[in-house]
Amino acid sequence: MSDTRPTGPTRDEPGFDVLSEALDEAAAGVRELEPAARQRAEQLRHAVEALHGSGINAIVRKLRGDHRGRELLFGLADDPVVRLLFSVHGILQPTPVTESLRALEKVRPYLRAYGGDAELVRVDGDTAFLRVSGTCNSRALAGVTLREVVKEALIGGVESIARVVMLAGDPSPTLIPLGPVRNRDGGWVAVGTAVELGDRPITALHLERADGAEADIVVISLDGRLTAYRDICAHQGLPINVAQLDPATGTLTCPRHGFCYDAHSGACLNSPGAKLMQLPLRVDNGQVWIRLDT
Ligand code: FES
Repeated sequence: MSDTRPTGPTRDEPGFDVLSEALDEAAAGVRELEPAARQRAEQLRHAVEALHGSGINAIVRKLRGDHRGRELLFGLADDPVVRLLFSVHGILQPTPVTESLRALEKVRPYLRAYGGDAELVRVDGDTAFLRVSGTCNSRALAGVTLREVVKEALIGGVESIARVVMLAGDPSPTLIPLGPVRNRDGGWVAVGTAVELGDRPITALHLERADGAEADIVVISLDGRLTAYRDICAHQGLPINVAQLDPATGTLTCPRHGFCYDAHSGACLNSPGAKLMQLPLRVDNGQVWIRLDT
């Protein structure tokens, strides 16, 4: 697969921070104008945004039309300036989970500097559930605990989050260690019982066909339904078994760059056209079978 990662600004191009600082400065200047001048400036801004939005949407529509174009779009969405433009023009639709993950990313360097870290477990309505690790619970700089830093980042940075609940202790296991399971029934592989797979939100499995072909898959358990996917994020092909499953919204969010999927269909909600690779799954006498595609 070709490399679709953003190359970042060249030596002569201003970076995201410089551009957003200039934008903030200009916006502050506009707010200080007389009402009539401010209205004119706002009209100009809307007209420029509408022009840019129309052009960007035309480019995105064209790129979405073919496989290579979609690959380029996924890579482009990693660039903070492009991501901002896509968000402003409704091409990327952030969800509470993706926004929370982004807010956490902003404070993660600080948490790590104090030997801690935080993991978003799920978002339920206006509440984010997190698990903290390392020395995150201890008192850090200037009497501020790292927990407070995390809370502030989420409540202050994500409009829909009003409460943060810290979950105690180690994460409950969501992955069950299974060795390779051999294919014995015309492409269908027995992978466990419906009860054990239904008990875990996300189960990672490594399957092996009789012909030696192997596949990593994930089984998602949500609302009493089991769904199997290849363990591959549609963005950069990294494993999806570390994704956050949000039962309230029925979404599965890859923590790496925030691609958010409908957990039942695998359709990507913030990059239309992208999809997880779903595998046929059936339950027979309490036994779960998954068919490996060829
Ligand atoms: S690998 Fe980028 S969002 Fe999953």
